[in-house]
Amino acid sequence: MLSYRHLFHAGSFADVFKHVLLTQLLLSLNEKDKPYFYLDTHAGIGLYDLSHPWAQKGREFESGIKKLWGRTDIPAAMKPYMDIVRAENADGHLRYYPGSPRIARKLIRPIDRIALTELNKTDCAVLHELFARDKRVNVQLMDGLQSLKANLPPKERRGMVLIDSAFDVSREFARLAAALAEAHTRWATGTYAIWYPLMGAGVIRGFEKQIEAAGIKKVLQFELSVLSEDASTMPGSGMIIVNPPWKFDTEMRTLLRWLWSALTVDGAGGVKVNWLVRE
Ligand SMILES: C[S@@+](CC[C@H](N)C(=O)[O-])C[C@H]1O[C@@H](n2cnc3c(N)ncnc32)[C@H](O)[C@@H]1O
Repeated sequence: MLSYRHLFHAGSFADVFKHVLLTQLLLSLNEKDKPYFYLDTHAGIGLYDLSHPWAQKGREFESGIKKLWGRTDIPAAMKPYMDIVRAENADGHLRYYPGSPRIARKLIRPIDRIALTELNKTDCAVLHELFARDKRVNVQLMDGLQSLKANLPPKERRGMVLIDSAFDVSREFARLAAALAEAHTRWATGTYAIWYPLMGAGVIRGFEKQIEAAGIKKVLQFELSVLSEDASTMPGSGMIIVNPPWKFDTEMRTLLRWLWSALTVDGAGGVKVNWLVRE
């Protein structure tokens, strides 16, 4: 329990997929003047040094952000995400990779608010330090699913939740689906983004069925895989998005297809965009 350290995986193809979607969701919230709330239930440490021995162990960032770093043909929709990563590396050399809290902090406006929860004490202390002087960011040492109960519904009544579990306990898919259903009863109009690893069709189908059975509407599903299914490691990952912005399905399909072409290994994998539950 809690042996997971995201530094081993920072900047991987799964991170790029997750953070490109997160960036687009937050930009969409920025389109209206009213304040919003961003809750990151499994926040990590916020900023990752890719030269650290843990990041160097599997060099997973080479499967993700490194492949995009030198490209000169980045589509316009990818630019805000790339600009955030570039801002962490002002000398042009890729060393630091921003986690979801740091990405959100770059995108929110002065009127918006962030809550970050992290259960690993060491990681939470690092996160606390990173945002110590920032009044808009509240860091909490807390279980991510408990934090849904503690923080929802937000007083702003608009915003989003990122649920980015470490998937280090068995039956995590079932726990997440149940937590989403419970959170949705508290705050039905919020946007929820739930990341998951592609771990076998049966497990994912069970997760989908549980979400369908919860009676939640407007559930969009994205998957991006870059390795073949018989690879020895996770071939890709997915994101369930409840209450996505208008046209998010078509806009992200185009963006993810480009991302797939940039990240695929020998043409393996692909992109899935699916309405799990419509209006
Ligand atoms: C995938 S990482 C998060 C990465 C981060 N969201 C990002 O995109 O930069 C998952 C994090 O969840 C933390 N964690 C594990 N179990 C948790 C729990 N029950 N509640 C909150 N955080 C937890 C881990 O310590 C780890 O930092």
